[in-house]
Amino acid sequence: MHKDVLYIAYSEDEIRRRVRELAAALQSEYADKNPVFIGILKGAFVFMADLVRACGFPLEVQFLKASSYGFAAVTSGTVEVSMSVAAENRHILIVEDILDTGRTLKKLRDKLLAQNPASVKICAFLDKTERREADVSADYTGFGCPSEFFVGYGLDYAERYRNLPYIGVLKPEIYLPDGS
Ligand code: IMP
Ligand code: MG
Repeated sequence: MHKDVLYIAYSEDEIRRRVRELAAALQSEYADKNPVFIGILKGAFVFMADLVRACGFPLEVQFLKASSYGFAAVTSGTVEVSMSVAAENRHILIVEDILDTGRTLKKLRDKLLAQNPASVKICAFLDKTERREADVSADYTGFGCPSEFFVGYGLDYAERYRNLPYIGVLKPEIYLPDGS
């Protein structure tokens, strides 16, 4: 285990199993729809790579960049979304690493809806439901999780730890260096 990780919340095995279950659920909804999976950069890149390989039906892959935490551990009030996906008449699945306040996904979903897609749904690997501020919820969730700060499996703190193969809780002293 990485020295900055307090404990492993979701192991590689648990993640693998859950991704397979999600893919099976997506299969029943999207098998004949040629959906567009839109991964939100950067955090979703690992989950996206596992998810699409577990999905044995035709689909397309796109990525969009949304603003991130930068170097802080809380969501900034403003969310920037760079958009260039042709969504009209397409079935869209937004693939996100973690749903927190929901501000990022609400903004993104609203922008996509303005393009008259056939449908827009959300698949978030982790879901911090008790932190939700925006009116948005995931249609597919890997795990409902507590309000801890997680790293690994694509999730970062200040651009670090994305390459950990498991999801761990970061030691608080890493993001609160003065112990406050
Ligand atoms: P929201 O707009 O508050 O829902 O923020 C969602 C984004 O915040 C995610 O895409 C992540 O980039 C980031 N985020 C939220 N919680 C965590 C966490 O526990 N670890 C790492 N990044 C997180
Ligand atoms: Mg992110």
